[in-house]
Amino acid sequence: MMHGSPSRVSAWIARFTPLLPAGGCVLDLACGGGRHTRHLLDAGYRVVAVDRDVSAVAPLVAAHDGRLEVLEVDLEDGSPFPLRARRFDGIVVTNYLHRPLLADLVAGLAPGGVLLYETFAVGNERFGPPTNPDFLLRPGELLDLAHPRLRVVAYEDVTVDGDHPACVQRVAAVAPGA
Ligand SMILES: C[S@@+](CC[C@H](N)C(=O)[O-])C[C@H]1O[C@@H](n2cnc3c(N)ncnc32)[C@H](O)[C@@H]1O
Repeated sequence: MMHGSPSRVSAWIARFTPLLPAGGCVLDLACGGGRHTRHLLDAGYRVVAVDRDVSAVAPLVAAHDGRLEVLEVDLEDGSPFPLRARRFDGIVVTNYLHRPLLADLVAGLAPGGVLLYETFAVGNERFGPPTNPDFLLRPGELLDLAHPRLRVVAYEDVTVDGDHPACVQRVAAVAPGA
């Protein structure tokens, strides 16, 4: 279940995109339809877009002059994180949670790199999917992931009203040593 429009850029990601080092290389993990891959490319970043289904983003490669790398991979098959050897200036994750990867995401930030993460949290069960606790952040979980390893610029643990109510956590955090 998507929080927000499947095509519209998350307001959280849009708000904190300027934190990402200009022209840097940003990982869009579980990129799905590519709303943030497109947004980041439009903002001048290099992007590594990863998903088990890259059919929406693969067609963008040709038009982006070497700035888009697409990786089709199952992130949950028990293998080590496939990008463990890489460091990113930014990592964007929205509406996706696979807990075994969380530590790799923090470790995958280059000095000064920025983590922008937004996904569903416990409490969302009353609104609909996802309801599986494996896919729902526990109270404070994103904050605990970031702090104190990263400098937390912003964190929210909120219930969103409107047409598509949901419980979400969001963090924007910067790795030391820029
Ligand atoms: C709800 S969508 C979110 C897509 C995108 N991040 C967004 O917010 O627009 C979840 C994404 O996770 C991907 N995904 C789920 N399980 C995966 C796995 N085992 N390996 C890689 N990608 C996976 C799905 O293919 C899907 O694109």
